[in-house]
Amino acid sequence: MASNDESIKQTRADTRTGADMTPSTSQPAVDTHDLTRTFGGFIAVDQVTMQIDPGEVCGFLGPNGAGKTTVIRMLCGILEPTSGSGKVLGYDVARDSEQIKKHLGYMSQKFSLYNDLTVQENLTFYAGIYGLSPRERSRRLPEMIDMAGLTGQEQAIVANLSSGGRQRLALGCAIISRPSIVFLDEPTSGVSPTGRQTFFNIIQNLANQGVTVIVATHFMDEAERCGRIAFFSGGQLLALDTPGHLKAASLGGFLVELELPDAMARIPGIESQLYVRECSLHGVVLHVILKEESDLAALRTFTGVEPNPITPSLEDVFIALAKKSRMERKEHDG
Ligand SMILES: Nc1ncnc2c1ncn2[C@@H]1O[C@H](COP(=O)(O)OP(=O)(O)OP(=O)(O)O)[C@@H](O)[C@H]1O
Ligand SMILES: [Mg+2]
Repeated sequence: MASNDESIKQTRADTRTGADMTPSTSQPAVDTHDLTRTFGGFIAVDQVTMQIDPGEVCGFLGPNGAGKTTVIRMLCGILEPTSGSGKVLGYDVARDSEQIKKHLGYMSQKFSLYNDLTVQENLTFYAGIYGLSPRERSRRLPEMIDMAGLTGQEQAIVANLSSGGRQRLALGCAIISRPSIVFLDEPTSGVSPTGRQTFFNIIQNLANQGVTVIVATHFMDEAERCGRIAFFSGGQLLALDTPGHLKAASLGGFLVELELPDAMARIPGIESQLYVRECSLHGVVLHVILKEESDLAALRTFTGVEPNPITPSLEDVFIALAKKSRMERKEHDG
């Protein structure tokens, strides 16, 4: 039986081109209100309300199980919401899922290429699935090969490509029909840092052409390159903002770095200090969020080392957001 992901590939796209498929700018590319999905009694996605504009690169971030993939699957029209509503390109995710599938590109967490076929054969196969005319196909194939940096490797068997090459080819297959919105679910896991950078350059080019890109990732360097970041935890959307705004607004305190020998073991002691909001391990150093800058002296006295004030990283922001949300839920549950 075909999986739900398969059903996207097997939907014949209409053959309109990107230009006339681009939604009007007055309408968000993604617009959800209280979008919710439960599995049995478990709430995987909890009342997510978000708007994403055409041409945005929006990063979906959050720990494993946060609900990123489940949101993406609902937005792609392959999983029905339990409650709430969502529109993609103006189409209702529950009522118009067939229309949505025709107009988007999707790379699932386990994207599928045919490993025993060549680069060209894979693209030709997807061009067929999306119903491209022979003329459009002969125009798009070289464009996708060029975008994927695979010129000269058209006849290479996919199994023999680098992981970065396979990922770029999978993107080429996902966007061969010129969709105006693309969902990429952790497209660069397993790819080298240079390969990831190349992939993100391609994403940015797509966005410059007006394509909306939603990309789930665990990589902070990729998050930094997104126009806005949607941060999920426990099924809830905890923040949706630019990396700069998130750093400026979310910490609610003064961030310092501490170098201590057995750093990990010192966390509970530091966290028990009344002037400390948060203490976490980053590599071999501790990041501590103080309530006020003036608490520096107290921390110095308590630990015996000099704390260095630092600019928060996105990781700091996400740790703080997730912790705040856990506390609020605890309070709420009594
Ligand atoms: N079909 C399903 N049946 C039951 N539970 C599910 C199903 N799909 C997802 N879940 C659960 O919903 C939660 C959210 O999962 P989801 O895959 O959306 O998370 P994620 O943020 O994409 O995580 P990751 O970073 O690991 O990909 C998880 O607890 C997962 O086990
Ligand atoms: Mg996922």
